[in-house]
Amino acid sequence: MSEHAPEIESILRTISVKLATEATASPTRSYCTLHDTRDCHDELQDIRRSIHQYPELAFNEVRTAELVASRLEAWGFQVTRGVGGTGVVGTLRAGTSRRSVGIRADMDALPIHERTDLPYASAHDGKMHACGHDGHTAVLLGAARQLARTKRFDGTVHLIFQPAEEIGAGGGAERMLADGLFDRFPCDAIFGLHNHPGVEAGTFMFRAGPFMAACDTVGITIRGKGGHAARPHQSIDPILVAGSLVMALQSVVARNVDPNETAVVTIGTLHAGHAPNVIPDSARMEISVRSFSPEVRASMEARIRQLATSHAEGYGATVEVDYVRGYPVLVNSEAETEFARQVAEELVGPERAVGNFHRIAGSEDFAYFLQQRPGCFVRMGNGANQPLLHNAGYDFNDENLTVGAAYWTRLVERYLDAA
Ligand code: NI
Repeated sequence: MSEHAPEIESILRTISVKLATEATASPTRSYCTLHDTRDCHDELQDIRRSIHQYPELAFNEVRTAELVASRLEAWGFQVTRGVGGTGVVGTLRAGTSRRSVGIRADMDALPIHERTDLPYASAHDGKMHACGHDGHTAVLLGAARQLARTKRFDGTVHLIFQPAEEIGAGGGAERMLADGLFDRFPCDAIFGLHNHPGVEAGTFMFRAGPFMAACDTVGITIRGKGGHAARPHQSIDPILVAGSLVMALQSVVARNVDPNETAVVTIGTLHAGHAPNVIPDSARMEISVRSFSPEVRASMEARIRQLATSHAEGYGATVEVDYVRGYPVLVNSEAETEFARQVAEELVGPERAVGNFHRIAGSEDFAYFLQQRPGCFVRMGNGANQPLLHNAGYDFNDENLTVGAAYWTRLVERYLDAA
């Protein structure tokens, strides 16, 4: 419980975040190095491959959560299960400081049938760790182990193991926050990572400001009037409206978005009709919309609604537009991003701690945490020639396990510096 009024609490937090992120590594103190976590490699690899072999989908991460919780308990963490569904939070305190930091890993798998010949390939048909969340979880457990055995920090660290990152709206981050995550486990700042195929393993890529896209989904149903293919004048053809709308939607990014901004409109499905001699009653399309600023996002929604409505009207049809907002733009805060980049640079050298990496059109529900706390989400190379994320041949690169664990450990030691 806090003994301060909320405003004072907030001022103290701001000061403590400022102090933590502006501090440079003390020359007299020792922080975690790549060497320090190396002896954990085999143990972390076993954990990672075990999670990989038994993948669990969103909010069903029962075995994974129990594996995480039992390890954390064995290493002396205070463990809270069932946070936002199957989420787990491990808390470790050292020293007397009131400062705190949160680190998050995601735990869920995807509904993909694995096509690898790995000895630890998925034992669950149609489910697979094709996004490396098995690796993110094992990396954070590696940090837990290292932090617990060295305790070279002053304050509180909350390790947040999140369910259901992959499902879009209503995912694990929202559920954990709705379950009072930051009230129950106060964090001055929050950090997270995701692996990144196509870049050498052990490389960290940072970007302050908007880093990953907001992702919205739009369902458009056009209702015309069905009839005989030979008598089009007695029908209202929804396929004609759909075809015209497909072309018009290409103008949203080309003509309505500032050239200095970027956005994507992809029409992923288009369905209508069953027979060549029948004009159908309706046509339906589904669209994926990506953007990097709230203004662009709002203007694209308005423009898509307007085009759909005016096209339907113009041809005498009606339309229903179901615009579902998914994950918001992921925005890294300036000070925490520079701090995290410095930590990575100290650990792996400047060539492997890349600042100002390009923006990524994928989306991440870590964005919700960053709406409530300052922090940084980093991408970590998974190997130059590795299969892409969400590919049936994908596998997390185990070279990253002890590197990632050292990164998290050093970040906590530097953020909660005992000096
Ligand atoms: Ni992922």
